[in-house]
Amino acid sequence: MAMKTKTEAPGPKSKAWFEKKEKYVAQAVSPLAPFIIADARGALIRDLDGNEYIDLTGGWGCLNVGHAHPHVVKNIQAQAARFLHTDCSVVMYDSYIRLAERLVKLAPGPSPKKAIFFNSGAEAVENAVKISRAYTKKKAIIVFEGAFHGRTLLTMTMTHKAKPYKEGFAPFVSDVYRMPLPNPYRNPMSFKLWEKQFTTLVNPDEVACIVWEPIQGEGGFVIAQEGFPSFLRELTHKYGIVLVADEIQTGIGRTGKFYAYDHFGIEPDLITLGKSIASGLPLSGVVGIQKVVDAVGDSGIGGTYVGNPVATEAANAVLDVIEDENLLEKAEKHGKYMRDRFLKMQDKFTLIGDVRGIGAMIAIELVKDRVSLEPATEETAQIVKECLKQGVIIAKAGLYGNVIRMLIPLVISDAELREGFDTIESAIAKVSK
Ligand SMILES: Cc1ncc(COP(=O)(O)O)c(C=O)c1O
Repeated sequence: MAMKTKTEAPGPKSKAWFEKKEKYVAQAVSPLAPFIIADARGALIRDLDGNEYIDLTGGWGCLNVGHAHPHVVKNIQAQAARFLHTDCSVVMYDSYIRLAERLVKLAPGPSPKKAIFFNSGAEAVENAVKISRAYTKKKAIIVFEGAFHGRTLLTMTMTHKAKPYKEGFAPFVSDVYRMPLPNPYRNPMSFKLWEKQFTTLVNPDEVACIVWEPIQGEGGFVIAQEGFPSFLRELTHKYGIVLVADEIQTGIGRTGKFYAYDHFGIEPDLITLGKSIASGLPLSGVVGIQKVVDAVGDSGIGGTYVGNPVATEAANAVLDVIEDENLLEKAEKHGKYMRDRFLKMQDKFTLIGDVRGIGAMIAIELVKDRVSLEPATEETAQIVKECLKQGVIIAKAGLYGNVIRMLIPLVISDAELREGFDTIESAIAKVSK
């Protein structure tokens, strides 16, 4: 058994810190887990009171190589001892260039590509938009229903869900247009109709970019109807629009391929990366077709900490681990296990309306009724709570908060994953009653 609960969380040590937190930390900071971490390794977290948890959230998808992978930690320590910061626009370092080369070489598609690094996912998306505008000399941005692209003013505008992400933060940025996502479960639609709606909403000749998540992350692991990515690629070529694949949640191997767009047989113009790229250290990037990326001239985009040397060393180590430990294969293998378990649960519990995903990016959508598809929002929250009580941390998602998504560390052991799924099943059984 991986999980050992000694006290009900929060135990006395965690509780003491939470009391201080109430006093000194802004209330916007509201963690899912009711304990304070002591340390973590792989897919396991230990709290200050000695309880152990199986982490199926990976810090919102940042830990494909697991907590504190020894190779990543070693490289971070070695780099920290050499130098912490130069600003790559003052003095360049080899780990930045090495990482760019590796990410470019991993990116499928015939066009020559280049890379540039930032700090957060939102920053990568902001910069992908800036690059798109510089390249096309156009201004409008198209995003989708269910999209999540970040919390800065521009990316918050691009994000769909109002509460909690946008409430009270208006006015938003102009020239951002939202289109429906042809969602096979909730909203199937013809692509012809989609194009008609698009050309009615905005003059396509004024559109700089369409920003698309190959699998929606916060939106609930929604994969658009079959053929939609190719349709989008043709449409963007037709109107001279940059196609941006936001791979911040899908990338770095989670779907069984390094880049999720590879599943769809298309080549986007720009790809944003973040989250698992540096195992939780602040790093993000834009990889893209050379002539598009190079539309921005000398020092046109950047920032003080972007592509920090400790983070780029960590990212190079992450790529080593993905290769050395065959994590793409593990994503497939664990993904198959999770899908099979969820499909079996779907036969047992009518609460599970849909099972979907690719590779290890697997989710279930919970509904009160399989015909009306009324979202089972409260039940989903109860399941997350019940799992936490039993020592398994899982994440919700979806516009209606009725999706349970797996963001497992790909290094998780078979036994830990089995135990995690036994717990999820017993929580769903309990809430289904
Ligand atoms: C698809 C996608 N884009 C962008 C972001 C924003 O990334 P960050 O929180 O690092 O700014 C996220 C974060 O969840 C995401 O999932």
